[in-house]
Amino acid sequence: MKEFISIDKAVEVLNSGGVVALPTETVYGLAAKINDVSALKKIFETKARPFFDPLIVHVSNLEMISNLTLNPHPILIQLAEEFWPGPLTLVFDKNPNTVSDIITSGTDTVAIRWPDHSLTEQIISKLNTPIAAPSANPFKKTSPTEADHVRQYFPNLNIVDGGSCEIGLESTIVKLVPESNTLLILRPGQISRQNLIDFFKSKNLNIKVIESFNLEGPGSMKEHYQPSADLYLFKNKPISYDYPEFKNKIVKPIIFPENPFLFARVLYKTLIEESKNVDILLFEWTHDELDSNWSAIHNRLEKAAKVIL
Ligand code: TXA
Ligand code: MG
Repeated sequence: MKEFISIDKAVEVLNSGGVVALPTETVYGLAAKINDVSALKKIFETKARPFFDPLIVHVSNLEMISNLTLNPHPILIQLAEEFWPGPLTLVFDKNPNTVSDIITSGTDTVAIRWPDHSLTEQIISKLNTPIAAPSANPFKKTSPTEADHVRQYFPNLNIVDGGSCEIGLESTIVKLVPESNTLLILRPGQISRQNLIDFFKSKNLNIKVIESFNLEGPGSMKEHYQPSADLYLFKNKPISYDYPEFKNKIVKPIIFPENPFLFARVLYKTLIEESKNVDILLFEWTHDELDSNWSAIHNRLEKAAKVIL
């Protein structure tokens, strides 16, 4: 099996037009330099990702955003100062001279975050250029939280092994609508609505925080994060084996930790690894999906599920 690569080798590959899978605290990303159009195209080819699904740009310090954005709103800067490095992606008005349409799917905005993982921070700093990186999985499949998961998806890819991802769910994505003093949560993640409300309160800022991830947006596909086994989600009802499609299939119930942070950390690993030996996975959901700590997990499970009962 192809060996994992060092950060210096990753810098060399990225500088010579290649793509590299890198660890972050959320999930592994598949990276290219933002100023290398042919490498950016390789990301889409590798993942079989449609060009209408925009990429997140990753930086390793706050100064890097000045070149990527136009007049960043002071509230976005305050959010960055509070939550970066970390699992919060901010949508800015983009500088069209530095951020190509391939990254942003032709929109006027660019999504940016500073990941909290020392190996990837070092790689970005050594490149001295931000990188664009979606999660390192084939389109619609479960995001990898270990280097081995990336290897299973892409046997020949250059991968930096940074261990298991601490958080295990993709970053929270937010967009400010200054006209209505509103922050929209476009994708839920570990930084919850309550965390954002608390932050604005602590700064005496009158900003409403609204979850808008059920609306259609770039990349908000209904089926996403799907494991190779079919996931049946039993919502607030006990698991039943009494379905004709389970006949002659290997069917297995899965369990997760009761704590939401631990649940998130092992969610994708469990889906990827349990799928290897069975046809159908069953999970009984018993949590309050409106609770800030559970909404991101609930969102991913509903998208990963083939059937919701
Ligand atoms: O935690 C994460 O965010 C991981 C790690 C690798 O950083 N990345 C990640 O990327 O989840 P990806 O490509 O799987 O999801 C990116 C999503 C897109 O599907 C889209 O929903 C949103 O980010 N996005 C990107 N650019 C956007 C923009 N300009 N406006 C609104 N949403 C955007
Ligand atoms: Mg993804």
